[in-house]
Amino acid sequence: MSRIVYINGEYVPEEEARVSVFDRGFLFADGVYEVTSVLDGKLIDFAGHAARLERSLGEIEMASPVSGEELAEVFRELVRRNALTEGMVYLQITRGADRDRDFDCPVPELVPPTVLAFTQTKNVVGNPAAKTGISVITIDDLRWARRDIKTVQLLYPVLGKKMAKDQGKDDAWMVEDGVVTEGTSNNACIVREGRIITRDLSEKILHGITRKAVLAFAREAQMKVEERPFTVDEAKEADEAFITSASTFVMPVIEIDGARIGDGKPGPVATRLREIYVEESRKSAI
Ligand code: PDD
Repeated sequence: MSRIVYINGEYVPEEEARVSVFDRGFLFADGVYEVTSVLDGKLIDFAGHAARLERSLGEIEMASPVSGEELAEVFRELVRRNALTEGMVYLQITRGADRDRDFDCPVPELVPPTVLAFTQTKNVVGNPAAKTGISVITIDDLRWARRDIKTVQLLYPVLGKKMAKDQGKDDAWMVEDGVVTEGTSNNACIVREGRIITRDLSEKILHGITRKAVLAFAREAQMKVEERPFTVDEAKEADEAFITSASTFVMPVIEIDGARIGDGKPGPVATRLREIYVEESRKSAI
């Protein structure tokens, strides 16, 4: 069965979905995106993703072409039509396709945005990597300065993941001014003496929806949370490390630049937070 994707108001088999060669997402990375996870055929933290999408669009001075309710409807319909039980819904909105390649932003009344969404199957809860943990390298953060906007401009994260894979590792954490910003496609956290430490929110990192939920669950469970920058050395000496994202939830990190973290196995805090996140997310999924 061919996957059904959503493109500009229509549900079509993936082979039939068409985007213009002049689409500004393709030519200029002039667009934003969201990844929402799906468990038991339901959307996880949809409201958070819809709110961040709205914010990203505002920051690139685009009016939102879909309301939150319409978006929820599209996501649910895609999940239904593709019989998706576990995985993600990917959404991308670009500034549309003008008649030529032209840096100047087109008038929205003449050039409508491109709205694209599709599902991806993934074993997120049962991901075997959660049992073993992952290894990361550190790389300079060479991205642009507005990482709080979820743009489709992802060349550096792509190269960062390639650098990690080329060294036989799983992912990369990015470092700027001596401190960790975040992972290539996730937020980075460490645990020291029972305290969860993760970079504070600013334009330097993406405001992860999973990060927010996990920190709230941690506080509810009386765990101490410190939102502040941390160095690579501090991370290497941490008791535990983990990443958070919609496609990995809470994923233990057991090695940073070849240094073993804790005893080299997923630690109790990351393991517990993963359990709580899955349990609570299932309850509030829509
Ligand atoms: N990435 N930081 C970056 C740079 C990201 O790209 C992501 C998400 C996150 C975590 O955000 P959230 O918890 O809202 O997923 C942090 C998605 C999953 C992706 O690009 O596939």
